[in-house]
Amino acid sequence: MNELNDLAIFGSTPAFAEPLHVGRPNIGNRERLLERVNNMLDRRWLTNHGPYVQELEQRIAAMLGVEHCIAICNATVALEIAIRAAGLTGEVIVPSLTFIATAHALQWQEITPVFCDIDPRTHNLDPCRVEDMITPRTAAIIGVHLWGRPCAVEALAEIARRHNLKLLYDAAPAFGCSHRGKMIGSFGDAEVLSFHATKFFNTLEGGAVVTNDDDLAARIRLMQNFGFEGYDRVIYIGTNGKMNEMSAAMGLTSLESLDEFIHVNYRNYKQYQRELEGIPGIQQITYDEAEKCNYQYIVLEVDQAYTGVSRDQLVDILWAEHVLARRYFYPGCHRMEPYRSYFPHAGLLLPETEKVVERLLSLPTGTAVGPDEIGKICQIIRLVVEHGPQVRERLQKLVVKESSYKCQKMNVYRSFP
Ligand SMILES: Cc1ncc(COP(=O)(O)O)c(C=O)c1O
Repeated sequence: MNELNDLAIFGSTPAFAEPLHVGRPNIGNRERLLERVNNMLDRRWLTNHGPYVQELEQRIAAMLGVEHCIAICNATVALEIAIRAAGLTGEVIVPSLTFIATAHALQWQEITPVFCDIDPRTHNLDPCRVEDMITPRTAAIIGVHLWGRPCAVEALAEIARRHNLKLLYDAAPAFGCSHRGKMIGSFGDAEVLSFHATKFFNTLEGGAVVTNDDDLAARIRLMQNFGFEGYDRVIYIGTNGKMNEMSAAMGLTSLESLDEFIHVNYRNYKQYQRELEGIPGIQQITYDEAEKCNYQYIVLEVDQAYTGVSRDQLVDILWAEHVLARRYFYPGCHRMEPYRSYFPHAGLLLPETEKVVERLLSLPTGTAVGPDEIGKICQIIRLVVEHGPQVRERLQKLVVKESSYKCQKMNVYRSFP
C-alpha cells in the first residue's frame, strides 16, 4: 500500500478479503464450554438461578471485591432494574456520549435523562457541569466509564453526597478495570456491567448488577425474578431479568481466558500506538497502565484540520478496505429519538460532546485481529493522512452513487452480525 491508487475506494482490491469487525467476539476454550453445556443438558437445569449462574456470580463478586453480584440477561435490563430498585424518579443526569441504552433504561420508565457534557480529556461526565444540571427534580447521577476509563468517581460521590442524590454507574465497558487500585464495580450505590457478545468478556448476551448495598441487592434479586420470594409467593413488582445457564457457561469459560484476552488487547493497543504515532491529526486515546484495564477499545480522535480528511471520509475509506471502523457513539444520545424531539436544543449545553462525536473512530481489536491486520490498517491510515488534501479532492469527485464501493458497503452492512 504505497500510493493512493492502491486504496480500494479508488478502485483497487480491498486490503482484506473478509470484513474486520469492531467487537468480534472472543471465544474461550471450546472443549471446556462444550463440557459445561453437556453437564447443563444432563442436569436439565437450564435457567432460574442454576449452578453456573451461581458460580459466575460468586466469581465476579470475588474478583471485583464486592458483596453482591446479580447476573442479569443483559446490561440494559440490568440498568432498568437497578434504576427501579434504587427508587429513581423525575430526572437523572447522564452523559450523552454513551450507548443509547443508558438513556433508554431511564426513559423506558418515564424518568427523564438530563444530558450533561463531558470532560474532553476523559470523555466522561464533567463533574463541574454535573452540578449545573441539578434541579429539584434530580434523583440521581448515572456516570458511564466510557472505553473502560473510570469516571471522576471521587468528585461525583462528593456532588451526590452534597445534594442527596443516588449515584449509579453504567460500567458496561469497564469489566476488569480499576481506579486507584480498586476494581470498578464497587463505586456508587451500584454498577452495571455488560457481557454482550461484543464486549471482550462475553456471556453471549448478559450483564450484572454489582453492589455493596445489601438492601438494594435484595430488591434487585427479587425484581429480576418477577418478585418471587418462594415458589408461589410474590412480594414485589418484578420482571424477567434472569441470566440462563448457557450464558453463564460461556461466562465461566470466558473467565478462564480473561488474562489472555486482556493480554491480546494490550498487545494490539501498543501496536496501534507504535504504528499510528506521529500521524498528524490522529490521536489514539490512552489508558492508565498503572491501573487494571481491559484495553477493549481502540479509539482514535481524528482532527480534520491536520488530517485533511474528515472522520467520516476516513470511515468510508476503511470500510472500502473491509475494515468496519465504527463511529462510537455518534451522534450522541441527545441527537437520537426520542430525545432529539423532546429536547431539540440539548446540544447547546453539550459543546464538548458535540465536538468529540464528530471525531471519534473505533478500530478492530480482540483475538480476531493480529499484528498483520493491525499493521495494514495503520498503513492505510498513514497513507491517507500523508495525502489528506489530495484524497479529499478525489473523494469529492468520486461518483459514489452507483459505484461498486457503495454496493460493497451495503453488502458488508447486511452481513454485519
Ligand atoms: C455504555 C453501555 N451501556 C449499556 C450497554 C447495553 O449493554 P447490553 O447490550 O448488555 O444490554 C452497552 C452495550 O454495548 C454499553 O456500551
